[in-house]
Amino acid sequence: MNEDKTIWWNDENKSIMIIDQTLLPNEYKTVEIKNVERLAEAIKRLEVRGAPALGVAGAFGVALAAVTCESDAEFPETIAEAAELLKSTRPTAVNLAWGVDKVVKSMENLPPEMAKFLALTSAKSIADNDTKMCMLLGHNGAKLMPQIGSVLTHCNAGALACSSWGTALGVIRSAVKGGRKISVYSCETRPLLQGSRLTAFELARDNIPVTTIVDSEAAFLMRQGKIDAVIVGADRITSDAVFNKIGTYMHAVCAKHHNIPFYVAAPTSTFDFDAKESDIVIEERSRDEVANLFGKKTVPDGVDVVNYAFDATPLDLVTAIVTEKGVLYPPYDFGSLK
Ligand code: MRU
Repeated sequence: MNEDKTIWWNDENKSIMIIDQTLLPNEYKTVEIKNVERLAEAIKRLEVRGAPALGVAGAFGVALAAVTCESDAEFPETIAEAAELLKSTRPTAVNLAWGVDKVVKSMENLPPEMAKFLALTSAKSIADNDTKMCMLLGHNGAKLMPQIGSVLTHCNAGALACSSWGTALGVIRSAVKGGRKISVYSCETRPLLQGSRLTAFELARDNIPVTTIVDSEAAFLMRQGKIDAVIVGADRITSDAVFNKIGTYMHAVCAKHHNIPFYVAAPTSTFDFDAKESDIVIEERSRDEVANLFGKKTVPDGVDVVNYAFDATPLDLVTAIVTEKGVLYPPYDFGSLK
């Protein structure tokens, strides 16, 4: 067990270790992943999830394909197939492809033995840097948090979504560490409940006051003056929009209406500098996630369900974007991050 990490490399067995997030908060179970096909399944099932953690998973996945490949002749093909399989699992979170590509690049034009070594070194450094990046980002964003007040968040942009510490929750953690008295409203985040299962789990574990609400309660709490700020993570930031868990856009519109700051916290690896909102594929997930709850049917047979995993929030609704390189304010110019 590695209580501090969400995903890590097992040197002894040449395998990847993850916490199975589908089981939380009922069971805290670590899972050992020994091949790329099993990793692809774990990513699709959201056993490991959250943009930065997916970046680390993609990186370790390519390293796993490299170090377990026994044939030098098949090495280039094995790496190319692993990269393609991993990237195809979830299309919206750009960090996944970023992590895969970085490790593939670290092996370019090298003989297999050296390539294996560099792939693993590069993947481990992506994992370590992810933690450093979250700590820096948290430090940069802490000043935006109220001295005393309540902050609303959606989905899970915490330690469980990264290598550790978190992005949006990293900002909250850093602010609390610095002496601010913050309580958190965690939207449950239908349909898979990352907010109530994961965000509430990790904040409660850290003794940060947290209250779970249903997603549709957020606007009314804002109207009652109970929310001082909203902070969320991101799966991809294009030149004109922030992609994050479905429901984020709704919170941004409501925050604007109630004059509440709406902050986004994300590392530079989440930026897709040259893309626009219209270029991005939004992952659609199965009908079953919405139509079956706890083994019971919640939608009549034959009725259609649309289940987008993410939405896009235009940048004009975003008060500031917190990165490990600093805080950006409108009008947004991402040039300084490249
Ligand atoms: O479908 P998920 O659980 O992977 O979605 C995660 C989110 O939308 C997070 O808010 C985002 O990845 C940022 S994580 C720091």
